[in-house]
Amino acid sequence: MVVLLLLLLLMPLSATATAELCGNGGNYTANSTYQSNLAVLATTLASNASSSPQLFAAGSTGQSPDAVHALALCRGDFGTDTACRDCVATSFQHAQQACPNRKGAAVYYEYDDTQRPGCVVGFSGDNDFVSPANGITENSTLFQSWNSNNISGDGTASVVSADVHNLLTVTAQDAAADTARRYATTVMDSVQTLYSLAQCTPDLSAGDCLACLQRLNGMVNATTSMRLGGRIFVLRCNIRFEAFMFFDQPTRRINPSSIAPAPPGKSMITSCDEI
Ligand SMILES: *[C@@H]1O[C@H](CO)[C@@H](O)[C@H](O)[C@H]1NC(C)=O
Ligand SMILES: *[C@@H]1O[C@H](CO)[C@@H](O)[C@H](O)[C@H]1NC(C)=O
Ligand SMILES: *[C@@H]1O[C@H](CO)[C@@H](O)[C@H](O)[C@H]1NC(C)=O
Ligand SMILES: *[C@@H]1O[C@H](CO)[C@@H](O)[C@H](O)[C@H]1NC(C)=O
Ligand SMILES: *[C@@H]1O[C@H](CO)[C@@H](O)[C@H](O)[C@H]1NC(C)=O
Ligand SMILES: *[C@@H]1O[C@H](CO)[C@@H](O)[C@H](O)[C@H]1NC(C)=O
Repeated sequence: MVVLLLLLLLMPLSATATAELCGNGGNYTANSTYQSNLAVLATTLASNASSSPQLFAAGSTGQSPDAVHALALCRGDFGTDTACRDCVATSFQHAQQACPNRKGAAVYYEYDDTQRPGCVVGFSGDNDFVSPANGITENSTLFQSWNSNNISGDGTASVVSADVHNLLTVTAQDAAADTARRYATTVMDSVQTLYSLAQCTPDLSAGDCLACLQRLNGMVNATTSMRLGGRIFVLRCNIRFEAFMFFDQPTRRINPSSIAPAPPGKSMITSCDEI
């Protein structure tokens, strides 16, 4: 019992950060103005995102060259307790551990095999990759992760691939159309039942959100569309699909035969850790 308690204390949220990407915009020095600006902004964003109906906050603090820009986004199925705030605060701590003294970093915090929602944080200095335009067209905050197992069942590969693209397209459209949180979840009965989630930072327009998500959908290629789960993140939007329900509630159930096929995906690179 004591050992179990100790283990729980030693690994609070920490075991499941999906990715920390360290920026290449330089380093700050210990105890500098930049560091204290970052600390202030991290605390403010954690509490502002948590209390915002959109579960999102973004802002800047300080003057150049010590100005810090940052954002925090909690997944759309967070409740009203302090879990969003804790996730954001923990993610900023993760960034500091994984990228010590870096002026910029992005953290994608997601749990692997539970419904528990995660969050996204990003910060930067004068090379402001947090600005909305950045994440929609650039790869500097791109991260992908794929299940190594494949979808199995009666369908041919091309059918499964088309189903996955259609599932992600419908989810992307629903997320873009959601004016409250730019967040949507879908379930589809393909050769296996598949669950998908899409989310943008809610400060994006519907059009920018859809473009951001469909760009990620286009990165799902013939090989990865057969995988039993996958995630693609940029700072401004993300998609995920799994063969299990990893979120609170599907907002829509779709039938693969009832929707028009999506355009085929293009093949793209695995990941990029330069910010
Ligand atoms: C920042 O610090 C990292 C790790 O200490 C180091 O690898 C990197 O070269 C530094 N970057 C600059 C621009 O000094
Ligand atoms: C930064 O401040 C801490 C706490 O005041 C101190 O322990 C540490 O030595 C300082 N580091 C530098 C590089 O000044
Ligand atoms: C946080 O919320 C407060 C109170 O609504 C607001 O004044 C402040 O500008 C917000 N700051 C950021 C960085 O979101
Ligand atoms: C999944 O399919 C790919 C070919 O598309 C194959 O290379 C890989 O070994 C398969 N993975 C497993 C775990 O069977
Ligand atoms: C992002 O990566 C993809 C795949 O490698 C590439 O096709 C695209 O041109 C890249 N975009 C930018 C802005 O570099
Ligand atoms: C598909 O995408 C993955 C992940 O980006 C990449 O590793 C792989 O090379 C791509 N495969 C093809 C056939 O393009």
